[in-house]
Amino acid sequence: MAREFSTVGVVGLGTMGAGIVEVFARNGIDVVAVEISAPALERGRATLKGSTDRAVAKGKLAEADRDALHERVHFAVGLDALHSVDLVIEAVPEHLDLKQRIFAELDRICRPETILATNTSSLSVTEISVATSRPNQVIGIHFFNPAPVMKLVEVVRTVVTAPEVVADVEALCARLGKVDVTINDRAGFIANALLFGYLNHAVGMFESHYATREDIDAAMKLGCGLPMGPLALMDLIGLDTAYEILDTMYRRGGRDRRHAPVPLLKQMVTAGLLGRKSGRGFYTYERPGSPVVVPDEATPLATDGALADGARAIAKVGVVGSGTMATGIIEVFAKAGYEVVSVTRGMEKSAKVCEAVKTSLNKGVVRGKLAEADRDAALGRISWSATLDHLADVDLVVEAVVEELSVKKALFASLDEICKPGVVLATTTSSLPVIDVAMATQRPADVVGLHFFNPAPVMPLVEVVRTIRTSPEATATARAVCAALGKTGVVCGDRSGFIVNALLFPYLNDAVKMLEASYSTADDIDHAMKLGCGYPMGPFELLDVVGLDVSLAIQRELYLELREPGFAPAPLLEHLVTAGYLGRKTRRGFRDHSHR
Ligand SMILES: NC(=O)c1ccc[n+]([C@@H]2O[C@H](COP(=O)([O-])OP(=O)(O)OC[C@H]3O[C@@H](n4cnc5c(N)ncnc54)[C@H](O)[C@@H]3O)[C@@H](O)[C@H]2O)c1
Repeated sequence: MAREFSTVGVVGLGTMGAGIVEVFARNGIDVVAVEISAPALERGRATLKGSTDRAVAKGKLAEADRDALHERVHFAVGLDALHSVDLVIEAVPEHLDLKQRIFAELDRICRPETILATNTSSLSVTEISVATSRPNQVIGIHFFNPAPVMKLVEVVRTVVTAPEVVADVEALCARLGKVDVTINDRAGFIANALLFGYLNHAVGMFESHYATREDIDAAMKLGCGLPMGPLALMDLIGLDTAYEILDTMYRRGGRDRRHAPVPLLKQMVTAGLLGRKSGRGFYTYERPGSPVVVPDEATPLATDGALADGARAIAKVGVVGSGTMATGIIEVFAKAGYEVVSVTRGMEKSAKVCEAVKTSLNKGVVRGKLAEADRDAALGRISWSATLDHLADVDLVVEAVVEELSVKKALFASLDEICKPGVVLATTTSSLPVIDVAMATQRPADVVGLHFFNPAPVMPLVEVVRTIRTSPEATATARAVCAALGKTGVVCGDRSGFIVNALLFPYLNDAVKMLEASYSTADDIDHAMKLGCGYPMGPFELLDVVGLDVSLAIQRELYLELREPGFAPAPLLEHLVTAGYLGRKTRRGFRDHSHR
């Protein structure tokens, strides 16, 4: 029989604590909610009220249930109010000495059988537990932000946590409607160990002006289907909390440089820019605590469709190549009303590409997404050619041939001779330096990367890569073209992996390393990222879809360019590729897909 928890205590009513109070009270459990001072208590009360009022406004909570919820919460200043609760969850700032002090106090105040839990994200639960005389009753219960919404709870047992305490807490999580993963005490547990290197890397991109905050966030939302971009997520977590988590992970997690907090973070914290809770972080919010972003001096001006920043007018577009990407890109441009000249290496290939474009457009018609007349008009705008000479009068060329530098360089040298002046020349490379391609021409200022995602007609994102020689006009043109295609163009520098792959693949690689170290299972790691962080797929699901060979190749490129030790491909990933386990396409990768 699992232990009954009728009253729980929550210490600290900040970003997490207030949400945790709500989770318990919503599930019929009485809560004693404790803060350090009367003003802090009022803030916590206001946060709880704001959150439950929003739930009522959204129709997710009945008014009567909200009122009953509030009646279950007793607010108090000071830990003494916790003398008779069954369980305490501590959610004060991420400092070991503070937490140890609070646990020593709780040990003195609470009944001997009370379970003492910490919501720490990165500190050692073991070190916190030894501040008490009951380390066997101390456990980590790590909720995710926002606690009322995110399904996951990481239950952290130390080497001394009693098995029945673990079982009782697991049963409690189930009662709260949460999914728990139970793990050992290691810095960052599952989710934060995989998340924070990525978040810090994104802050580094922003700090170095590699891309704007809007573009970094849009790239990860639209390229990976994440619920929020990394900088918006940092604002939600709180930059002070994020700083402490990174700092602890750096010290506890083997001094991985990727966890050394980017200097900008410390500056922002010192300046009081803590994210949503202070009303300003990477973005500016309507008021402290509000989720509503308001424009500030860094917000890009809306151009209302006008050609901004010297963007050139584009009417006719050449697309070179006959593979999946070229086919999709031809369709995208033709559908958006551009004249398209497709160039392949022979009329047979052109016929195949033409068929593929027709098939894809027909699918649109069958699904009711495209009128027959629009399909015919789109096809009528495409001309098919097997010679580059037909690109003499286009305004933009998009190259999507094989991913080999020598081939692309030779092609760009030819384009340089054939195309009229002022044309923007774009490569869709996903891994080669755009500057190498640009320098094969006499007009590197007009060369950009246009990194479409597969399938091009569906994916809403395009990375616009500017090299150190690209002119602002060429970049503006590329961006305007993306907008005219109905896609979001994000501008970034010319580094391996651009934005999306540079942020995504090291995270996937870290997941493989975690599995390899036997810290957790593929299922639990996938669960943790989906239910704790809202990822549409877990890392192992995604690796099997992308292909382990493709993933390994991208990770190698990143490692070779940045020489970051933490980016070294996981040996397990290399072994699986060597063994021919490449993912869904070979019916086996991290999982066996032969029966599905
Ligand atoms: N922010 C997140 O996304 C997130 C997610 C999961 C876990 N956590 C963890 O939760 C914990 C709290 O983080 P947060 O982001 O909510 O911090 P926060 O700064 O938003 O809130 C901390 C609260 O603790 C209160 N406090 C400080 N000293 C206290 C004391 N002696 N007694 C009572 N209350 C006291 C503060 O007044 C403040 O309201 C940290 O361990 C953090 O690592 C945070």
